Amino acid sequence: MEIKLLSGALGAEVTGIDLKDTSDENFKKINDLLLEHKVIFFRNQPITNEEQIALGEKFGPIETHAYVKGLDKHPEIVRIIKGEEEKNQWGENWHSDVSYNEKPTKAVILKSLKIPPVGGDTCFSNMELAWDTLDEKIKEKIKDKKAVHSSLGAEFFVDDYKHMEVNKKRNYDAYSNEHPIVRTHPETGKKILFVNWTYTKKIIGLDKEESDEILNKIFEHQARLELTCRFTWTENTVCIWDNRSVIHFAIADFYPGRGLGYKRIMDRIAIEGDIPI
Ligand code: SIN
Repeated sequence: MEIKLLSGALGAEVTGIDLKDTSDENFKKINDLLLEHKVIFFRNQPITNEEQIALGEKFGPIETHAYVKGLDKHPEIVRIIKGEEEKNQWGENWHSDVSYNEKPTKAVILKSLKIPPVGGDTCFSNMELAWDTLDEKIKEKIKDKKAVHSSLGAEFFVDDYKHMEVNKKRNYDAYSNEHPIVRTHPETGKKILFVNWTYTKKIIGLDKEESDEILNKIFEHQARLELTCRFTWTENTVCIWDNRSVIHFAIADFYPGRGLGYKRIMDRIAIEGDIPI
C-alpha cells in the first residue's frame, strides 16, 4: 500500500487497496485510513454500483437523501449530474452534507464517472484542526453552545436542475436541527468544529447580531487554505470522506452555465450518521 498526502492538513491518495474487497480485514484498513486522513482517494477503481453499495454497507446503513431521488435500479445511489447548461451547482460552497438532519451523514463514498477536461476539483477542510487553531476567545464563547442547521436552500439542489430528480418522499418545507458547535468524534474521541457556511444559521443563546459576527469569523477561519487540501479528479476515482470531521467545497470552475460544454457526473452514496454530541 502507498499513501501520498495531499497536504499537511488532511487528505491522502491511496494505492494498493482494492475497494472490491469488502472483507473485514480490508475494511479495517480503509476505515483506519479514513480516520487518520479524513478524506481518502483511490484512482482507477472501476467499481460497479453493487460494489459501491457493498462498500458503503460496511460503514453502516445507507442513508436516503432528503431531497434527491436515487437511481431507479439502485435508490441508494444519487447520481450528481452537473450538465452543460445547469445554473446551480451541487456542493458549490463550504458545507458538511445534510448537517440539518437530526443524524447528519457519517461518511460519503463518491465515484467519478465523467470529469471535465479542466476544473471541477473538490476542496476539503479539516474541522479537527479548525477547532484546535480557532481563536481562544471564540472557543470560550461557543464551546458549550449549540447552533441551528437548516435545510433552507437545499431544495435548489433539485428544483432548478434539469438532470436530477426530486425525492418524492422529501420534506417540502425546510426543516432544521440543533447540534453542538463542538462535537466529539464517536470513533476517535477528538473535538470537531461542527458548523458550516451553507447550513448553519444561528448560535442558540446569542442575539442575531452577535451570532452572525461569531459565525462569520468561524466560517472565515474554516476556509483558511492551510486547513485544506484540494483534489483533481480523474474518471473512476473513488473518494471517501468522513463527513463528521471535514467540510468540503466542489468548485464549479468548469463553468457549466457558460456553455463551455463540460459535464461532471458522480455517483454518491452516504452512510447514516449518529446524533452529534
Ligand atoms: C458534494 O458536495 O456532496 C459533492 C462533492 C463533489 O461533487 O465533488
